[in-house]
Amino acid sequence: MKKVGIIGIGEYLPKKVLTNADLERMVDTSDEWITTRTGIKERRLVAKDEATSDLAIKASEKALKDAKLKPEDLDLIIVATITPDMQFPSVACLLQSALKAKNAVSFDIAAACAGFIYALVTAQQFIAGGSYRNALVVGSEVLSSITDWQDRNTCVLFGDGAAAAVVSQVQSGGILASHLGVDGSFEELLKIPAGGSRMPASQKTVEQRMHYIKMRGNELFKHAVNLMVEAAELALQKASLNSSDVDLLVPHQANIRIIQAVAKRLRLRMDQVYLNIQRYGNMSSASAATALCDALTEGRIKKGDIVVLDAFGAGLVWGACVIKW
Ligand code: UT7
Repeated sequence: MKKVGIIGIGEYLPKKVLTNADLERMVDTSDEWITTRTGIKERRLVAKDEATSDLAIKASEKALKDAKLKPEDLDLIIVATITPDMQFPSVACLLQSALKAKNAVSFDIAAACAGFIYALVTAQQFIAGGSYRNALVVGSEVLSSITDWQDRNTCVLFGDGAAAAVVSQVQSGGILASHLGVDGSFEELLKIPAGGSRMPASQKTVEQRMHYIKMRGNELFKHAVNLMVEAAELALQKASLNSSDVDLLVPHQANIRIIQAVAKRLRLRMDQVYLNIQRYGNMSSASAATALCDALTEGRIKKGDIVVLDAFGAGLVWGACVIKW
């Protein structure tokens, strides 16, 4: 099998900043509660005319530039998102057209907050098997479009953003191992009840606010910690490594207390963990992706480092990926 790794990365965060102080004026909450319970200080929101594909395009252009590739060099585009511009066509099709990536096939993956890792591992298979040479893997979300801005339990948590990675064959290092998991029996813990074939949109579903995220946060919390620890350990095991080999953990950014608990269980110090939750909140598939991009930009990852991407989300789905840089 060929070695596969990330050869370029880029991100785009919308300009508008929503602070905890802004949220204090919208719902019954406080900066103190949000900061201590989640670690979030602010998040980004799209402009009125911005959708998920717009964020994906800007992040992808940067990733292609970083990889020194042209859009026509791409054979495959995978977008991880739970907030597509519309039910169909996929964001990946809109992105393929906008980039003029005329040689690429493209599709979306819906694996919620683990979406970027699912997409990365999928792209890896196509390249390792020799079907394709260059893939673009994107995590892009406009969670503000599915957030109930009257529900303090959820509206303080989410933000909008995107990151993209160009994935190709590499001479050394690259993706060493991964572990993906699903348990669909927990669908009730985090979902949008209406708007699909089970409960199509109607006046009633709109009135009952059924098109927004419904989350049982407390119950999710403990699953998040257990499953992120398990995913990281199993992926490391497959790479014949253990947590003492890890230079940087790049986790999904749902809650700083979840991340701290995962780090503790993996026996990692917090300076071995990358955080951008304070700036961006939870951006689902874009969280681990932007965290990886930010960590690279800030020089937190050096050649030869062992980096673990680790995420968990609605499904339940989870996944971890061990990358040697
Ligand atoms: O992206 C992947 C999926 N998502 C997750 O993994 C999220 C996992 N869950 C969490 O991060 C946390 O459970 C939350 C941040 C969502 C909530 O934190 P918590 O410490 O579990 O709080 P809680 O839900 O147990 O609520 C504690 C109290 C409640 O009041 P009472 O019943 O004790 O009087 C809530 O009503 O905090 C109240 N509360 C708030 N107070 C001020 C809930 N939201 C807020 C708020 N501001 N925004």
